[in-house]
Amino acid sequence: MVLLVRRGRKPLILPKEQQSSDSPSLPSVTFEEAVTTVNNLVFTQKRRYLSEAEIVVLKGAWNSQDFSEIIAQQTTYAGNYLQRRVAPQLWTLLSEVLGEPVIKRKARFLLEQAVRKYSNSDLSSDINSEGSGSIKGQPPDTSVFYGRKQELLQLKKLISDYRCVPITGVPGIGKSTLSAKLLSDISLESSQKFDFLIWKSITHPVPIQDLVADLIKLIHPIEPSIVLPDQTQAIITVLIKHLHSHRCLVVLDGFEALFRASNLEQRLEYKILIRRLLEEEHQSRFILNCRVFPSDLNTVLKYKQAITCFRLEGLDTESARQLLTDQGLTDQDKLLDIIYTYRGNVAELQAVAQRIKYFFAGSAEKFYQHKTTFITDEFQSMLDETFSEVLTPLERYIMVYLAERISLDVSFLSFNNLLIEINSQYDNSASTSTIIKALENLERFSLVESMKDPNTKEISFTLQPVVKKYITQNSLGLLPANAFPSPANAS
Ligand SMILES: Nc1ncnc2c1ncn2[C@@H]1O[C@H](COP(=O)(O)OP(=O)(O)OP(=O)(O)O)[C@@H](O)[C@H]1O
Ligand SMILES: [Mg+2]
Repeated sequence: MVLLVRRGRKPLILPKEQQSSDSPSLPSVTFEEAVTTVNNLVFTQKRRYLSEAEIVVLKGAWNSQDFSEIIAQQTTYAGNYLQRRVAPQLWTLLSEVLGEPVIKRKARFLLEQAVRKYSNSDLSSDINSEGSGSIKGQPPDTSVFYGRKQELLQLKKLISDYRCVPITGVPGIGKSTLSAKLLSDISLESSQKFDFLIWKSITHPVPIQDLVADLIKLIHPIEPSIVLPDQTQAIITVLIKHLHSHRCLVVLDGFEALFRASNLEQRLEYKILIRRLLEEEHQSRFILNCRVFPSDLNTVLKYKQAITCFRLEGLDTESARQLLTDQGLTDQDKLLDIIYTYRGNVAELQAVAQRIKYFFAGSAEKFYQHKTTFITDEFQSMLDETFSEVLTPLERYIMVYLAERISLDVSFLSFNNLLIEINSQYDNSASTSTIIKALENLERFSLVESMKDPNTKEISFTLQPVVKKYITQNSLGLLPANAFPSPANAS
């Protein structure tokens, strides 16, 4: 048996009798085998695959059809385009990769020869390692990676069960790094489940046509001369077709940036994209990295069979301790305090470790004698944006109230007390349901933390030190002037 690996698919097993070369008694070579061989050769030498248009022309040549017959059999490409643009370039390409002049009339004979010649070569292993196993796009480096064994296992399970897995979590917690590591691990697995592993970073709200066109190009490089449809629904249809014929794992990093568009229509189009990815038939998977799941998409969460959110928390204590030790910090028992203060947030831990190293010669003990809490720039700007643009006045009030109560006398404030106190002090207008909804929203943004008493099951709330520090530094500016009494002055 000889294995020929088709692009990202199961190996094609050639029958034994086809393995000897040039025998006149050989059974005929099929067109699919010919395309597989040529695709392997083109990929090995040119680092690209045959385009759909080239395959259409090749098939016509294989069947000895003239161009009018080829054109009549397909409706995707204009005749002129196939005949004048695609065909001449294709013959040049094939001449280069087969090492002898290829013209339409001779194409079938030469392709059959190539199948016999190359079916015993190691082209297949080359394309397997370079093609389906490699990651398209530029994920962050994960050569230094701590912990997350559990999370990687959970994510692998989730992407086998769900089409779409949003990973949410505060800035710096490690969403991008974790999903990059997931791609890297999957790319090294011998039983490759995906044809393509794709990383796409999103930094600003690009038009949907651009994003979809980029994804299509990553899945299937096509000539720039092929014009994708402009219309949103049509271009999404093309993407889904590709996601159906190739099993892709796509990470959209910074996904929520798409929903920062002030343009309502653009946000609606992205909602349609996600809805169609969840509803329509294809075999691909999406990981959506976002700090907070965009509220525009709340309604798609009803597709419970297809989408499930994964909330990423901080690094486990042992891995975080290892990270801090590797950064040069000493005094092991104080390291635990640092890890707890920053809730295992990797970016925050790295930032504080650098300062302890620089100012306190790496001694966590000395640092604790002058205890302070740092906020990274990313965290600070996330809090600035959330407080100024996203939270309602009631939500801001609850945050400031919690920060003051926690600073004064309690580490956790029970829901019952919070309800009574906010109810009586916040302008006398907050109903129980609005307070509950406000707390739910604050939890969604990872701004408040909750804990359930194991015995009474009563829920209590607190703030992580970084958030508390932000509020106490800023509390007056966070409440609209004269809107209601400051929590400290409220009776
Ligand atoms: N498991 C890990 N091992 C080693 N370093 C990590 C790990 N997780 C995160 N980091 C490091 O922490 C920093 C922040 O991680 P990352 O960029 O993945 O966070 P994020 O959650 O994607 O943040 P943002 O919301 O700002 O995009 C990076 O410098 C990254 O290298
Ligand atoms: Mg990130």
